[in-house]
Amino acid sequence: MAEKSSETMKKIVSLAKRRGFIFQSSEIYGGLKACYDYGPLGVELKRNVKNAWWRDIVHKREDVVGLDCSIIMHPDVWKTSGHLAGFSDPLVDCKNCKERFRADHAPEREPGSETTYLEGGKSSGKKVKGVVGEQGYICPVCGCGDLSDERQFNLMFRTSLGPVDPMQELINHIDELSGLDKNARKEKVAEIINKSAVYLRPETAQGMFVNFKNILDSSRVKPPFGIAQQGKSYRNEITTSNLTFRTCEFEQMELEFFVEPGTDDEWYDYWKNARLNWYKSLGISEERLRLREHEVSELAHYAKGCSDVEYFYPFENEEGEGEWGELEGIANRTDYDLTKHAEATGKDLTYFETETKKRYIPYVIEPAAGADRATLAFLCDAFCEETVTDAKGNEDIRSILKFHPRLAPIKAAVFPLVKKDGMPEKAREIVDALLDEGISTTYDQAGAIGRRYRRMDEVGTPWCITVDGDSLNDDTVTVRDRDTMEQQRMPVSEVIAFIKSKLR
Ligand code: GAP
Repeated sequence: MAEKSSETMKKIVSLAKRRGFIFQSSEIYGGLKACYDYGPLGVELKRNVKNAWWRDIVHKREDVVGLDCSIIMHPDVWKTSGHLAGFSDPLVDCKNCKERFRADHAPEREPGSETTYLEGGKSSGKKVKGVVGEQGYICPVCGCGDLSDERQFNLMFRTSLGPVDPMQELINHIDELSGLDKNARKEKVAEIINKSAVYLRPETAQGMFVNFKNILDSSRVKPPFGIAQQGKSYRNEITTSNLTFRTCEFEQMELEFFVEPGTDDEWYDYWKNARLNWYKSLGISEERLRLREHEVSELAHYAKGCSDVEYFYPFENEEGEGEWGELEGIANRTDYDLTKHAEATGKDLTYFETETKKRYIPYVIEPAAGADRATLAFLCDAFCEETVTDAKGNEDIRSILKFHPRLAPIKAAVFPLVKKDGMPEKAREIVDALLDEGISTTYDQAGAIGRRYRRMDEVGTPWCITVDGDSLNDDTVTVRDRDTMEQQRMPVSEVIAFIKSKLR
């Protein structure tokens, strides 16, 4: 019988911690909700994902240039982009267990239908029956239908810039504030806070729009061309879950591709296919990958079209069967952003084509991916278990991360068959030669060779190179393939070329 997705996910979470891929942030202090740290192997995996993206999107193309913007930008950027007014989630409080949750993520139920839950949301609470309200959903924690009205909650993290501490300013005005009525007090508090308020960017994209003119003026680009950026973004997400899938601090890999209006549909199709194929080219199983075109009702007001590349993650849901989750969104943002920034700043953000004398504000096709979600998808997709039988007929479970070699945190492991007779020295020489070529390699001489293979399979190392007695005489080694477990003998002098050919 196929294993439940939730069981698979538990194994992946456990492996991720045990082998140093992903740790809970500040774990020795009890952890911090939805914040994670990448361990020694996780940081390599994520870096390889980001490098693969940068190589394919920027280095391998002549029509894309890179950018690295500051995380804190002028606060008016977020006014213009609409994030200050509109970037919010509908929040609801459960009157029974007091949980605050996102209305759009709550389990849907028929209004008026019956629902049962534990009083106070406590396991010791009495089982009671209630009714689902007009909203048509229940509390995701206790199942109660007695909920507050929805309130909008802005997702941007606010902080302050400069020598003025807004808290101190409020204290300085405390007498004045207490003399005001509720609305006037609210306005005064906002005025004090907004004097020094800045925001951690919720997306990297706006950096590309506000630098559009700088890049046109300083580089030899002309539409169709793209500006690419990777970097941290921050959203005060209320519902966070499933390891690094939805967190408050995450990394994005975004491309804003500027095209002549009228050619946008063609480029939209081009990027949808290119981005779907990118994940396939790095080994993600086709059956767990899909492109989902948004319904018109789902589209942001500025978008002409939007499609998500989705991956079937092994997350626990009500059926325990896993669920489709967004890896990346590809949107046709039209000329909305450049037009709005031009209006707000009075700067000319048009492009003038000298040959045709045409002037226009380019349309933008935006493939916006998440580095953490992609890393998690590659990790989940690579995980598998196989039953293997040893020479004595004993069965064992082999746990493997079948990463694409380009993504594997460690590319090769070198083992001396035994810890004597010059084998460790020979193995060390091979490690040094591989490291010199920039191939991340590890040395392991601890325990039986079979156990060393298992350790490397579990972290996804594609090749294990073993130095044995013959190696000292004929300068050959065995190279074992992680996925097939087949071994081939080859001269030491060919190992580097062999690995490089596979990584290309
Ligand atoms: N500029 C467009 C934009 O930011 P988005 O769909 O909100 O679009 C793009 O974000 C990608 O960033 C998502 O497809 C996802 O991979 C990643 N992402 C967004 N919010 C995230 C979160 N809270 N945690 C992890 N990744 C997130």
